[in-house]
Amino acid sequence: MRTLVTGGAGFIGCNLVRALLARGDQVRILDNLSTGQRANVAGLDVELIEGDLRSYERVNAATKGVEVVFHQGALPSVPRSVQDPLTSNAVNVDGTLNVLLASRDRGVRRVVVASSSSVYGNAPGTPRTEQGPIAPLAPYAVSKLAAEQYSLVAHHTHGLETVALRYFNVFGERQDPLSGYAAVIPKFTFMMLDGNRPTIFGNGSASRDFTYIENVVQANLAAAVADGASGRVFNVATGETRTINLLVRELNRLLGTDLEPEYLPPRPGEVSVSHADISAAAEVLGYRRLVTFEAGLERTVKWIAEHRSSGALSP
Ligand SMILES: NC(=O)c1ccc[n+]([C@@H]2O[C@H](COP(=O)([O-])OP(=O)(O)OC[C@H]3O[C@@H](n4cnc5c(N)ncnc54)[C@H](O)[C@@H]3O)[C@@H](O)[C@H]2O)c1
Repeated sequence: MRTLVTGGAGFIGCNLVRALLARGDQVRILDNLSTGQRANVAGLDVELIEGDLRSYERVNAATKGVEVVFHQGALPSVPRSVQDPLTSNAVNVDGTLNVLLASRDRGVRRVVVASSSSVYGNAPGTPRTEQGPIAPLAPYAVSKLAAEQYSLVAHHTHGLETVALRYFNVFGERQDPLSGYAAVIPKFTFMMLDGNRPTIFGNGSASRDFTYIENVVQANLAAAVADGASGRVFNVATGETRTINLLVRELNRLLGTDLEPEYLPPRPGEVSVSHADISAAAEVLGYRRLVTFEAGLERTVKWIAEHRSSGALSP
């Protein structure tokens, strides 16, 4: 199959690209390398188009001859969007519209769009179901909700097959630990490997449905072909939660350290409980959790430790 992965040089994108290549796809990537890295796709047999999602022309050229688009490209991070909401909006919303319109114009069969659990915010009711209330708390969450909803509307108005996946706190190999907006697992792992205390915003009782990357890749592959999935949105998670304090305990165990967290005031836009109901994805996509939090964390820590000591990861 000919596939396009937008954001394919990023964390989720490059892991998905590897899975697509492994099954024999011809893979093209569209990425402007803003938060992604060329090193993530170095040596892979892919066509890398360096370009910006905000340009319809670039996106249109990238969708030529493509059957399925996996739209992973975006500016992630809640704090980034609080600091610069205009850019997050332009990339995440206009960029998604460009992907949808170009896909329609080029006759793409299906577009799988990366959405986010952040759309639920602190809305009442947990675990989260796709029909349940949403309450975005940050510009990032609003932009992902708009992207998701535009993709569902494209199904109704343009007859384009679209599936939106609400990822819950994804982690794994090749997630950047060094960005100023790094996610909590790679950030803490890197800090603690250096012997530094992890800094927790709030009291550490916030909980997350941490989802190992292999599970997310599997959901994308299924979403590209599943009958009855088009025009729908699905949670992609594990259905279990871990607190931030527990995460630190697990990291201390895996690293053989005994580092006490440093507690700082909570940040704006942070969610207290993030827990998914994954029954819709199980039923329609045949999705199931392939790798547990503990097994995924062990692999992730090993990867970061190896790449840090080889100098491949340095501040
Ligand atoms: N990592 C998570 O926990 C998580 C959770 C929910 C949703 N998501 C979504 O999953 C997708 C992938 O996230 P990720 O964690 O791999 O982040 P990432 O930053 O590693 O990847 C994003 C990719 O998009 C590219 N990109 C950014 N702006 C672009 C632009 N203007 N034009 C072209 N390319 C651009 C970046 O260079 C990068 O390669 C995003 O849509 C994100 O919103 C991620």
